[in-house]
Amino acid sequence: MEQIPFWASKSFWKKMAIWVTAGSFLLLIILTFDTMSKVTAGTKRVPDYSVINKQIDYRYDESKHHSMPVIGGDAPLFGKILSEQEAEQLVTLGKKTIQAKNCMNCHTLLGNGAYFAPDLTKAWLDPAWGPESVRPMLMKMFLMDPEGNARTYGSGRKMPNLGITEQEAEGIIAFLKWMSSINTNGFPYNFKTAGGQ
Ligand code: HEC
Repeated sequence: MEQIPFWASKSFWKKMAIWVTAGSFLLLIILTFDTMSKVTAGTKRVPDYSVINKQIDYRYDESKHHSMPVIGGDAPLFGKILSEQEAEQLVTLGKKTIQAKNCMNCHTLLGNGAYFAPDLTKAWLDPAWGPESVRPMLMKMFLMDPEGNARTYGSGRKMPNLGITEQEAEGIIAFLKWMSSINTNGFPYNFKTAGGQ
């Protein structure tokens, strides 16, 4: 009888299937932990939630060839310094509202979502909101009544009124401020700030 080479045998491919499945499973577990350690608040690239108490700037870094978030002195959101726990609660309210109202249907956050409306990763730093002294107020007015306060930038696209309450708007603004402090390797690449605001 003709001898088949070992690599063509049934038992070899059975073992191979088991090893490849087990190896991929292990790799997925390792990657999950690796990702968690990089996306959790309070790690190297993702600041603590209480960063919303600070001034967040975005400056071009010559050596890296892209802009980097720069955390400055105290700049409490809505005039109140929050504890880490209070800040987390407010940012979480914002995150849940953003999920509940499905903002990703039109916007991208950290690059995920739809391309109808601007990416929100650095929306807090958008110079169109003016200086930080008026920014939270203008953002709140826009979020609670986007039709009445539409800006459209000549695109003709309008954000609909999503029935956002004042508390939810504050949560969203806290979330946007926190997200703008994340080091995203310069993403989104075409984002321009007025600088030093
Ligand atoms: C139906 C599509 C749509 C949905 C859903 C939507 N938006 Fe918008 N949004 C837009 C459009 C279009 C613009 C740009 C027009 C403008 O500024 O008036 C915009 C602008 C914005 C801006 C200003 C962006 C900047 O760079 O300054 C923010 C902040 C924003 N939206 C937040 C949200 C949040 C938070 C949600 C969910 C609660 C949401 N949007 C849901 C369409 C949408």
